[in-house]
Amino acid sequence: MDRIRIVGGNPLNGIIPISGAKNAALPLMIASLLTDDTLTLENVPHLADVEQLQRILGNHGVDISVAGRREGHGSSYARTLHFTARTIVDTTAPYELVSRMRASFWVIGPLLARMGECKVSLPGGCAIGTRPVDLFIHGLEALGAEIEIANGYANARAPKGLVGAKYIFPKVSVGATHVMLMAASLAKGETIIENAAREPEVADLAKCLNAMGAKISGAGTSTIRIQGVTSLSGARHRVLPDRIETGTYAMAVAMTGGDVTLENTSVDLLETAIKAIESAGAEINSVENGIRVRMGAGRIQPVDVITDPYPGFPTDLQAQFMALMSRADGVSHITETIFENRFMHVQELARLGARISLSGQVATIEGTLMLNGAQVMATDLRASASLVIAGLAAKGETVVNRVYHLDRGFERLEEKLTNCGAIVERVSE
Ligand code: UD1
Repeated sequence: MDRIRIVGGNPLNGIIPISGAKNAALPLMIASLLTDDTLTLENVPHLADVEQLQRILGNHGVDISVAGRREGHGSSYARTLHFTARTIVDTTAPYELVSRMRASFWVIGPLLARMGECKVSLPGGCAIGTRPVDLFIHGLEALGAEIEIANGYANARAPKGLVGAKYIFPKVSVGATHVMLMAASLAKGETIIENAAREPEVADLAKCLNAMGAKISGAGTSTIRIQGVTSLSGARHRVLPDRIETGTYAMAVAMTGGDVTLENTSVDLLETAIKAIESAGAEINSVENGIRVRMGAGRIQPVDVITDPYPGFPTDLQAQFMALMSRADGVSHITETIFENRFMHVQELARLGARISLSGQVATIEGTLMLNGAQVMATDLRASASLVIAGLAAKGETVVNRVYHLDRGFERLEEKLTNCGAIVERVSE
């Protein structure tokens, strides 16, 4: 099993190209199931989750080809993928494929809309809470689907086709909003979704669906209107930049000091997180095609944050921000409101010398000037990133075990950091 070895203490200086967003690429790839034409996606990150979804889509009969290759330093690593779901050969998404990644459950929307029936295994993914699927089920039922949960599968049918309706989400869900957009695009008549997720990835999916011929308005706000159409066509779409990767590297710079330009990204995607990193002491500016992050010699300032659906502080940056706060000059509080069990990084950060106490959904972090390298265990995707950035700032050697979590969501992490002066290497056994 691969590990990452880090020798901390070096400031980061240079350029880091930001990849396409994993959380946009996944629903966009799934949208290819909606049409028998070719959907071409540019700027697709090369990640384990993307490869896993390629296998899942392949099982349904989607023909996938990869064009493009890595370009030189400072330019995009992006790949262009073509997806053609000429015929859906299998409407079952089996446990063996779906259980590894929660987002694969989302195929339920397009399969149901296009084929009128499907059988999808209940999902797995990061162990950060119970993560039920009730919102998906109720949303699709509002469009006329009949769904039965049995033997670990959701068996969904829409014998008369899906029919547009008004659905008010009782709770904001990114995945369920994606699924409703895809399903309602091919439903009969108008669908109105209230309390929809406002994440930029939702707006990106809607943009792509509209390029395929869908009629969606309001994506990016909490009310989305979808006028159903009878069929969708192919399109070409560029995946938007990864705001979580952007925020992670910005926090890494704030932790280690230095001067880094994050290329191919934008502050507009993560304003709340940028404000929090600035309050911690970093200087952040928009530059042409990116963001410049600088951190001087001063101490990191304590900042309280509360995670919330977009445009609030993202839960996917909570662990990384906790790493940053562990070196702050004072006490800070981080409240997690999205997932009930997303503090598994706390005990690992403590191994590096962080002083964190938990009370329910609130972590209290008493900053310390110096973290010290240690062996740590990656417990989930974003927690892994927090351990890496803490390791970059810690004295001596840190070894992060179980880095396969990291490979699910961070493209060429070692290379990007090494290019900026960090000592980071992958150790394979
Ligand atoms: C997506 C992101 C993930 C991010 C999360 C919240 C992808 C691939 N993943 O996950 O990185 O951390 O948004 O920003 O885009 N819930 C229910 N019932 C449901 C569905 C969700 O109760 O049917 C709950 C969840 O348990 C959680 C909350 O709603 O507490 C938000 O989850 P959701 O927005 O659905 O997260 P994901 O789409 O799985």
